[in-house]
Amino acid sequence: MKLPFSGRALAAGTVAAALLLTGGSIAGAAPAPSAAAAPDISLASVKAHLTQLQSIASANGGNRAHGRPGYKASLDYVKAKLDAAGYTTTIQQFTSSGRTGYNLIADWPGGDTNQVVMAGSHLDSVSSGPGINDNGSGSAAVLETALAVSRAGHHPTKHLRFAWWGAEELGLVGSRYYVNTLSAANRAKISGYLNFDMIGSRNAGYFVYDDDPAIEKTFKDYFAGLGVPTEIETEGDGRSDHAPFKSAGVPVGGLFTGASRYKTAAQVAKWGGTAGQAFDRCYHSSCDTTSNINDTALDRNSDAVAHAVWKLSE
Ligand code: TRP
Ligand code: CA
Ligand code: ZN
Repeated sequence: MKLPFSGRALAAGTVAAALLLTGGSIAGAAPAPSAAAAPDISLASVKAHLTQLQSIASANGGNRAHGRPGYKASLDYVKAKLDAAGYTTTIQQFTSSGRTGYNLIADWPGGDTNQVVMAGSHLDSVSSGPGINDNGSGSAAVLETALAVSRAGHHPTKHLRFAWWGAEELGLVGSRYYVNTLSAANRAKISGYLNFDMIGSRNAGYFVYDDDPAIEKTFKDYFAGLGVPTEIETEGDGRSDHAPFKSAGVPVGGLFTGASRYKTAAQVAKWGGTAGQAFDRCYHSSCDTTSNINDTALDRNSDAVAHAVWKLSE
């Protein structure tokens, strides 16, 4: 049985005890990995990325879809930010429906590469719109979290890897390609995969994936601390990029603020918003622009992304 996030505290305690027993000096030893709290992620910075993704769509026929120039331009934008922040970036190329697609993988140097914590989001839109909530929102929050790791000079115990997937809208193509091309040994090194697909829906709900219990608890605890009730994500389990990881036996989790399903009166009582309306009325349509974002939901979820990345990599 695999205990992805519960084993290390014990192991660290054992190491500390061993150091004490040997009585050896630790002067000159490498600095201990920091267990600092995650920083507050700036909503303005996340929204600045969304503005850039919107501009990219507007300059490229109104979308950022697989096989279209707006997709590659989105990838180049994210990659440049990560390269400047000290990430080791890799573009993974694949073909789907006769067109070239790309995943972007960014590794933060350091940490135990036998324990990899991954956070990812799909960067492609549908062809009918700019895809700002779906999924500029997750892409921008993951990007800003990665940049926050660099700014903080954060060096957790585990190795951090961030990913932006291509061709999710064609059926999880990019993430499936990534998982399928990993060796069994490298797959086994992934302690957890966190997925963020639609986290700024205008008529937001606060949904947590009901998958790996430790990951789920990390998110639930964060929202409980804010006094925001959550529900289990049920709007099509397996409909995003965590599914290939889950199928391969990797512990997964994630957040979601809702797509085309309607918000109920009971949900309005806990979260506000409008009953009998979709969580995202612009889902997969041309109005999924920078106007189609709930700032409060995007801010809370972006902070939750950083919280989970920090907490699960300690
Ligand atoms: N992945 C879907 C899309 O991009 C959106 C979606 C539907 C979703 N149900 C979900 C995302 C459940 C996460 C969880 O169009
Ligand atoms: Ca914030
Ligand atoms: Zn999506």
